[in-house]
Amino acid sequence: MRETFPLFPQEASTLAPRVDALYFYLIAVTIFFSLLIALSILYFAIKYRRRSESELPHGVEGSLKLEIAWSVIPLLITFSFFIWGASIFFAMNRPPSDAIEISVVAKQWMWKFQHADGQREINELHVPLGQAVKLTMASEDVIHSFYVPAFRMKRDVLPGKVATYWFEATRPGRYHLFCAEYCGTKHSGMIGWVEVMDPVDFQSWLAGGTGSESLASAGAKLFAQHACNTCHRPDSLARGPNLEGLFGKKVQLQDGRTIVADESYIRESIVMPNAKTVAGFQPIMPTFQGLISEEGLLQLVAYVKSLSKAAPSPEGVAPPLSKSRGQTPQGSAPASVQEPPRSEAKK
Ligand code: CUA
Repeated sequence: MRETFPLFPQEASTLAPRVDALYFYLIAVTIFFSLLIALSILYFAIKYRRRSESELPHGVEGSLKLEIAWSVIPLLITFSFFIWGASIFFAMNRPPSDAIEISVVAKQWMWKFQHADGQREINELHVPLGQAVKLTMASEDVIHSFYVPAFRMKRDVLPGKVATYWFEATRPGRYHLFCAEYCGTKHSGMIGWVEVMDPVDFQSWLAGGTGSESLASAGAKLFAQHACNTCHRPDSLARGPNLEGLFGKKVQLQDGRTIVADESYIRESIVMPNAKTVAGFQPIMPTFQGLISEEGLLQLVAYVKSLSKAAPSPEGVAPPLSKSRGQTPQGSAPASVQEPPRSEAKK
């Protein structure tokens, strides 16, 4: 019915039906209580109306049972909102571990995408059907918001931070992408499309790319170019923490805190190295704020991530990506998009 009477955008992600179900539940509860209250007012106004000028009302005793009932029942109902909402919130914020990763840079006024193996796109994002996709997003200037109504996903992209989000498309097609945060004169033009493709088509689309280098190996180049490897090294000359196997692990900081080395932490450690110094190291690293673009930062983050997935080659450069992925007949496992570095390294 909703196809012919489109009050709502199509549901095109695994989360969309869950978000809608909660939304309809909230509407149903709201309608039920609005009617209950409005009709009760009418009914009582008529039933207990004043029938003569001299009529005096009876005193009314309190009723403990009634008071408990109208406190406990709404409490349980609001708890149902909370528990249901929280379960969706957690699902939205926990990308599956097999998600393919795409980096997103927002700037006035466009969306720039880069796939793990280097394909770049602007205002257009190709993704495979039925495969979880994790977005790592950063902004070059002001606050933007990545909004795809058909996926029921919206996430603010703030300057100076890395935002992550994920979705899994459930229906092929082209879906609107909007910027949902006013970001300047051409905010309304900061729109685009997400194209959900059959996994096999997606593979051939990827393979037909310009062959630009992968995020991680671009990051490895930056890493060498800025001489990061003179301090971040596995041997005894290291003046900075070893980055191999770091990503996703807990890190002990100098001030006693422990944090998880995620995308935001790595980005922060490049632009504000002394914000969270790792225990056992001196705060000697210079800031790279302004020296490396947001895109470069995401590439470095991808490189550090890749150090936890595969053994790096001796020069500290990420292993080359397999170009033969188009030939692997794995329609059911488009995760192979992300896998080549690992399988290469094992050979
Ligand atoms: Cu970017 Cu509005």
